[in-house]
Amino acid sequence: MNRLVLLNPGPVNLSERVRQALQKPDLCHREPEFMTLQASIRSRLLRVYGLDNADWAAVLLTGSGTAAVEAMVTSCVPRGGRLLVMINGVYGERIVTMAERSGISVAIAASDWLSPLNLVAAREQLERYPDVTHVAAVHHETTTGRLNAIDPLAALCREFKRPLLLDAVSSFGAETINFDRWPIAACAATANKCLHGVPGASFVIVNRQAFAEAGAPARSLYLDLAGYLAQQDAGGTPFTQSVQAFYALDEALGEFMDAGGVAARQQTYRQRIERIRTKLSALGVAGLLPQADSSCVLQAFQLPQELGYEALHDGLKSRGFVIYAGQGRLAAGMFRISMMGDIGESDLLRLEQVLSDVLKQIR
Ligand SMILES: Cc1ncc(COP(=O)(O)O)c(C=O)c1O
Repeated sequence: MNRLVLLNPGPVNLSERVRQALQKPDLCHREPEFMTLQASIRSRLLRVYGLDNADWAAVLLTGSGTAAVEAMVTSCVPRGGRLLVMINGVYGERIVTMAERSGISVAIAASDWLSPLNLVAAREQLERYPDVTHVAAVHHETTTGRLNAIDPLAALCREFKRPLLLDAVSSFGAETINFDRWPIAACAATANKCLHGVPGASFVIVNRQAFAEAGAPARSLYLDLAGYLAQQDAGGTPFTQSVQAFYALDEALGEFMDAGGVAARQQTYRQRIERIRTKLSALGVAGLLPQADSSCVLQAFQLPQELGYEALHDGLKSRGFVIYAGQGRLAAGMFRISMMGDIGESDLLRLEQVLSDVLKQIR
């Protein structure tokens, strides 16, 4: 079968270099070779945003991005604390569900899914609930492709002295994350999106001091970040890790550094997505959000009324490209295109042609 180009928000097309890493020798997760691999990934993850090992730690998990976000949410909020959750899409709503299922009290600052974070509501909730200990937000809300503005939220968090829990699952590695200016206590992300690894490895970057000070109880056996942190700092791991996914992540991080790190990846994605946005616009398909509000990673487009999503998806897939449907209450009127992974110039040229062909054919 011909290669499918994945324009969904992860998993991504692998480079040959990362694919080869999956073939490395079988390894027991209790042997020193695994400890070396784990240590390499942990230090490379900190290097992505130039973080100092004395202040920050990367905690590695086996599981998808949801595992990392759930570990972060359930391991950071202390007993008697409350989590203020910023919602403007599916992933903000999911954080509320995670907290509630673990018995963590929540406060909500919601906005319409097509709107920015609701800072007015956040301020009201912080004033109303003095027991709020942490604020959770999604950096890139993949539901709509909005890159949430974290600067003003960070200012509010600093004003109320509340640390931030950031879901950066679909932004880590490609968008700017100001670890030095935003009061981040923890930031969750995954291997198989902007870092171009394979699914199965995810991680939380924790601020060592903020994490220790929170003194949160373990609410889960498997997703207990404190347990992972202690054992990984000591060169171990509490449970079997996905060795092959770790091999791939380590190689993907090497490839990422060689290519120029966050700035280079951001530029690559931005060039790709602007090109596709321009093409779609010429074909009469408008963006769901303005370009300036959208991430470089993924953008959402309005589904023209006369077009069904299935026809568009199937037409593109039969020609080698997988796009992504809308989610939740926006599902009926939109589709999404992501630009992560090993996508080359020939893929982009072909995509431009195929978009024209399919849209003309099904209209
Ligand atoms: C912002 C965000 N958070 C969390 C997740 C969940 O990640 P996963 O599907 O890897 O569990 C996603 C997935 O797309 C996401 O975009």
